[in-house]
Amino acid sequence: MSPGTSRATDDTDDTDDTDDQERGMIRHKKLSSLTLNVSDLARSVAFYRDMVGLDLVEQNDQGEAFLSCNGDHHNLVLVQAQEASFKRVSFELEDEGQIAVAEKVLTAAKVKWTRIEPAECGRLRIAQGLRLADPTGIKIELVTGMNSRPGRHFPHPIAITHLSHVVVNVPDFANTLRFYTDVLNFRVSDYRHEPSGERYFAFMRCFPNPYHHAFALLAAAKPTFFHMAFHAKTLDDLMTGRNRLLKAGVTVAPTPGRHMASGSVFQYFADPDGFTVEYTQGMEEFPEEGARQPRNLDKTYATTDIWEGEKPHNLPNLGRVEL
Ligand SMILES: [Fe+2]
Repeated sequence: MSPGTSRATDDTDDTDDTDDQERGMIRHKKLSSLTLNVSDLARSVAFYRDMVGLDLVEQNDQGEAFLSCNGDHHNLVLVQAQEASFKRVSFELEDEGQIAVAEKVLTAAKVKWTRIEPAECGRLRIAQGLRLADPTGIKIELVTGMNSRPGRHFPHPIAITHLSHVVVNVPDFANTLRFYTDVLNFRVSDYRHEPSGERYFAFMRCFPNPYHHAFALLAAAKPTFFHMAFHAKTLDDLMTGRNRLLKAGVTVAPTPGRHMASGSVFQYFADPDGFTVEYTQGMEEFPEEGARQPRNLDKTYATTDIWEGEKPHNLPNLGRVEL
């Protein structure tokens, strides 16, 4: 399938993917990191370190703080800024050779991209990287060779294993979805639809990474950030994390729940700037070949939470995006 043809709209999930590299399709390792502009760096670093469960690995004189919950140098970058906003999301490609594949695919699809200069790659602790934007203007990096970090993961009451997913709202849903599926080679795991049948939510895995969704799009009037999720190692970690947040006076959604789409247990809460963060635990995984077809799930709250708990109505949901 070449860029520009439709994968997202036909409900098929091509299972013949072993020769993606030969066909010039981008292959991803995983969701790598999220970068947020924050209004008070020290306050946000303390929150993600002491409450959420990441380590502060490095802080530089550019006002950037790199935090990690695992052996990667970072999964979250916080940048001191005048006002808080979503800055960019980074995906790590399968290997160094994928940079050339990505350049070719993006150029063929007439997507503007730039190479991250070697000096900045050094500062970001990556080998190589490309920068681009989706049709909405959401900033994306495709990187390789994220450094491992030396030393032991600092013990924390909450064990989180990785950055699980990022969700954004976009105004031109169909066109933006086509970009992710046809150009970036993401695969839709499930859709949700309006009562009219129109699709408004797409959960995507960054192929061939197996997790149900690393990235998701919601249809909305303007581009906004919805939430980021960190994967808790066990349900005990998620629930202990929830109770620690409550005791600290953090704004926490009324109840945990379980998503129908991915089977994940979720608990939403707010960070100091008002960004929505999620602890998530457990997620459906897909094989590279022979994956099931995406489902069309309805818009009822029972689909969001099969336990039908109270909706997360108390979160500020800061959605500002740096475009
Ligand atoms: Fe989520």
